[in-house]
Amino acid sequence: MTGFLRPESLPLDQQLRARARQVLPGGVYGHMKADHTLPPSWPQFWERSHGPYGWDVDGNRYIDLMCAWGPMVLGYQDPVVEAAAAEQAARGDTISGPSARMVEFAELLTSVIPFADWAMFGKNGNDATSTAIRVARSATGRAKFLKATPAYHGANDWFTPNTTGVPAGERANIGYFAYNDIASLEASVAQHDGEIAAIILTPFQHDALVPQQLVDPAFARRARELATAQGAALIIDEVRSGLRLDLRGAWESIGVRPDMTAYSKAIANGHPIAAVVGSDSLREGASKIFVTGSFWYSAVPMAAGIATVKRAAELDLPAVLKASGERFKQGIEAQGAAAGLPVAITGPVQMPHLSFADDPEMKKVFAFTDAAVRRGVLLHPWHNMFLAAAHTDEVVDEALARIEGAFEELAGLGL
Ligand SMILES: Cc1ncc(COP(=O)(O)O)c(C=O)c1O
Repeated sequence: MTGFLRPESLPLDQQLRARARQVLPGGVYGHMKADHTLPPSWPQFWERSHGPYGWDVDGNRYIDLMCAWGPMVLGYQDPVVEAAAAEQAARGDTISGPSARMVEFAELLTSVIPFADWAMFGKNGNDATSTAIRVARSATGRAKFLKATPAYHGANDWFTPNTTGVPAGERANIGYFAYNDIASLEASVAQHDGEIAAIILTPFQHDALVPQQLVDPAFARRARELATAQGAALIIDEVRSGLRLDLRGAWESIGVRPDMTAYSKAIANGHPIAAVVGSDSLREGASKIFVTGSFWYSAVPMAAGIATVKRAAELDLPAVLKASGERFKQGIEAQGAAAGLPVAITGPVQMPHLSFADDPEMKKVFAFTDAAVRRGVLLHPWHNMFLAAAHTDEVVDEALARIEGAFEELAGLGL
């Protein structure tokens, strides 16, 4: 297995990249742009996916630990979810109003998430975080909100890390603090005392490029206290972590409940839908705003979402992902130690992030992930990865067997 190598070049992928540069500005854009920021072996264009696997346009199969950058959580084309989606598609998807699935999905989410009394839907994570901010502003009559730096919450004018094309005024109503730093949060609250509509936080610190930090429960509790004292909404952005950490909400086990949570990515196992759920205290504020979209009421993703959330509850999905994540972490850390290249997996094991010690320019992690991709395992050099139920013990073990060769290759480079 360690000798397995895919062909060095991807001719169809290269052709498509060249064509893309003619008709897509800068080629593919956004987080799925493979040029420059990803190892050279990473395919840009994909042909198909099934279970834990993706196939590039040149026909090579990968064990996919990116899960479409989060949305896939059961397995690609999960039969239960796809049956529910197909059944709804046969009846209708985008119609002249919502289907009963909208009410049913809201009922399901509010029954699974203890603090939630209502839900609103959109398409992408950005819709959910933006809607949550607007609800908080509507409910409080205030403009400001506080966020951690850099903390990604979407690509709109408030949050995008690349401010090209964004007027400075768009950020005028944002206060900043450092994640897990109580003093910094307190200082930001003091600076904007009485003006704060919301504090928005991810359930753990999952910024790109750096090792991940779990939340300090004392920090989470202080954020809750400060939001309550300010009469501001505490928003948890679970766009990336939803269904992977705790179905009831990521901070339920530490006794911290938000006023709103934003979801997207995994909640319909790859079908396009986002949700904001909130407590009764914000119902009136939520009912006054105007948010919408031509495809926000589509019934198929809602049917898929209902099937996904039910399946996640049946499986106790976070526990399943935790077990496979632990297997992956222990395996890869043992391999790294044996190769004299200690690798760290940080963050919750369900969403592992890779880094090497003594790797300030990230040469090791790029070379290693490049070698893993050529061995048919899609690993990421600077973003967290994702486990899915389809990553069974056998699949994780096959990934580890392939990755062993990547460690051998990295050791040979002497970086
Ligand atoms: C924590 C978090 N919030 C919001 C978003 C935005 O989601 P989307 O890209 O679906 O708009 C992302 C996307 O990666 C995210 O990770």
